[in-house]
Amino acid sequence: MLDNDAVRILSYTHREREDPMIKLAPSILSADFARLGEEVADVTAGGADYIHFDVMDGVFVPNLSIGIPVLKSLRKATDAFLDVHLMVTRPQRYVGAFCKAGADLVTVHLEAAEPQDLFAAIEAIRAEGKQVGMALKPKTPAEAIVPYLPLLDLALVMTVEPGFGGQSFMADQLPKIRALRGMIDAQSLSCEIEVDGGIDPDTAPLVKEAGAEVLVAGSAVFKKEDRRAAMEAIRNA
Ligand code: DX5
Ligand code: ZN
Repeated sequence: MLDNDAVRILSYTHREREDPMIKLAPSILSADFARLGEEVADVTAGGADYIHFDVMDGVFVPNLSIGIPVLKSLRKATDAFLDVHLMVTRPQRYVGAFCKAGADLVTVHLEAAEPQDLFAAIEAIRAEGKQVGMALKPKTPAEAIVPYLPLLDLALVMTVEPGFGGQSFMADQLPKIRALRGMIDAQSLSCEIEVDGGIDPDTAPLVKEAGAEVLVAGSAVFKKEDRRAAMEAIRNA
């Protein structure tokens, strides 16, 4: 029988083994949308840091997903940090609406608009008092983000072609994560590096070693029975 002090010491030791720098962002694309509130409550209770919300317009990517009405409903159901990934062409048209619907962070794709419109989108998100992210598709080089980097809270490296959950991790994106880590550290910027696509306990150590801090995982979390265990397996891998 353990006394209270022993329990405290054991749980402290357990926490210490977890990497405090790594944030877990389960992607609800792989959740059961008929039970979205419960699914989000489950991963939040299990230790999720962000809830990753994938928006697809059928133009920027060959798939459709969810949008503003679902975000509004989810905002009412949870206090969790909502990380909105817009896979949408010309996102400047919608960023204000996503902020008002309850996003905490809005990420736009570098490939989705002209530079002046991307700067406008960044400004519009800031004007709503929300965090700003920029995502890079696999074929986009790290250097393309340089003009935007000082304005960002988060840089998202896609480790699959955006559009679908459950794809295989692209290891050829690791040098891009390393390059971004170098740029951010050299300029002492506070921008986090997020990775998205094919993250599981096998691939997580690779992206962590390369310098990623926020790990998106869809199928590796929501397709498992025990979400807390699934997230811990990724975080501690
Ligand atoms: C893909 C989405 C991802 C997706 C990841 O375009 O941006 O967030 O849900 O799914 P997994 O983790 O299954 O690769
Ligand atoms: Zn995503």
